[in-house]
Amino acid sequence: MFYEKLDQFPESFLWGAASAAYQVEGAFDADGKGPSIWDEFSKIPGKTFKGTNGDVAIDHYHRYKEDVALMAKMGLKAYRFSVAWSRVIPDGEGEINQAGLQFYVDLVDELIANGVEPVLTLYHWDLPLALQTKYGGWESREIIPAFKKYCQALYEAIGDKVKHWITFNEQNVFTAMGYRWETHPPKVSDLKRMYQANHVINLANAEAINLFHDMLPNGKIGPSFGYGPTYGLNARPENILAAANSHEFNNSWWMDVYCKGTYPKFMYKQLERLGIAPEVTPADHVLLTSAKPDFLGINYYHGGTVRENRIENTSETDVEIKEFSATDPYLMQPKDEQAQSPEIPMFETVSNPHLKTTEWGWEIDPVGFRVALREVYATYDLPIFVTENGLGAIDILEEDGSVQDDVRINYLNEHILEMRKAITDGVEMIGYCAWSFTDLLSWLNGYKKRYGFVYVNRDDESEKDLARIPKKSFFWYQDLIAQNGANIN
Ligand code: BG6
Repeated sequence: MFYEKLDQFPESFLWGAASAAYQVEGAFDADGKGPSIWDEFSKIPGKTFKGTNGDVAIDHYHRYKEDVALMAKMGLKAYRFSVAWSRVIPDGEGEINQAGLQFYVDLVDELIANGVEPVLTLYHWDLPLALQTKYGGWESREIIPAFKKYCQALYEAIGDKVKHWITFNEQNVFTAMGYRWETHPPKVSDLKRMYQANHVINLANAEAINLFHDMLPNGKIGPSFGYGPTYGLNARPENILAAANSHEFNNSWWMDVYCKGTYPKFMYKQLERLGIAPEVTPADHVLLTSAKPDFLGINYYHGGTVRENRIENTSETDVEIKEFSATDPYLMQPKDEQAQSPEIPMFETVSNPHLKTTEWGWEIDPVGFRVALREVYATYDLPIFVTENGLGAIDILEEDGSVQDDVRINYLNEHILEMRKAITDGVEMIGYCAWSFTDLLSWLNGYKKRYGFVYVNRDDESEKDLARIPKKSFFWYQDLIAQNGANIN
């Protein structure tokens, strides 16, 4: 679709940036906080890049006022952050830790006082360790009342001060990494258990949404999903069918449950055939269909390209097959002992010959962003809040104290332009949060892979002085916000 002139961004558009508790806060045992599964996992030798962890991270817990002052200086309209469950309820289900809860109340107040709208994520992967030990984490339905209690504590303490709430961050990613690829806690490699845990999370998501609507009828709530469009390698009909399979496997498996309350049929039958489908009781069905999100959070990094499954495909042999990557949470490719995987008969992931990649091998696909926004809006008819999008890169602090991150500026510019086109196409959008505001800990790539508008002076070996230094992209985004994106053409 070509336009002579693009629509303006809505006046109320929330230009934001995002983070997650474990990646920024530090203060891992301060003021009564209990341990999370990440506090334990990151200490296991060999599990994270150079043994990095979030014990100190960028010390946002102690420096949040400085960080919020920088957001205000930038003119940021929204800041998406997550709450560490074990800071609020140290063992996940017992007494509330008032000091931990107060940190988030203070953060929200500070943001509002500085004209920045807080966007709160309830769960960004740091499950209280006690719940993992006691119940086996998300594999047990016994965790659901604990999650509800935690949500209730936040709904009560923060209430209408936060308008947009996120339930789960990238359920597709943390279940795959944690229960299939063993690269996140609880380091399980078992598909049946993965689909079971995923189902329990769906139920917890539905409970959290229903409770929210009861308690805070003026607010908005939805999940944040790691969405990527799936392309067929070319117009071979077999490859188009493979793309449809991949879409159901990678996207609809979650999005349909969030929005329709049911699992997509082809994928469910495929899992049943393999004996790994989750058990859905009639009561589950009632719950899942009762909980409707008010908007959809979309995290976009890249999609994937597929061709006909490797069992039937005999004609196309000259393309590059995607290798399994332990640090790329999206569209991983099973091989060897993982070959008994449900996607083997469905599709095969290949490199896209038209796309360049980042230093970490992630495809750069701004048009895919527009495709994603349109697909989601056309299918589910809910407003979209982009809750993550950004470029991980190695940034250099120059001798003159500047960081010339033009590569990031180009990346964001191209993606925001495609988002503007999607709005012109007719997609209803609430806002856009770049990942991330400051540099922060990458779960598996330490402090080397940076995403922020603000450089944080630390590395994998040393905390240095943790000074905050705005990068060139900081001033670029500041200018963009001041013009409400009118300069992005
Ligand atoms: C998303 C997560 O998957 O991608 C973030 O929600 C994460 O928490 C981001 O940091 C970037 O991933 P990575 O592996 O490059 O740090």
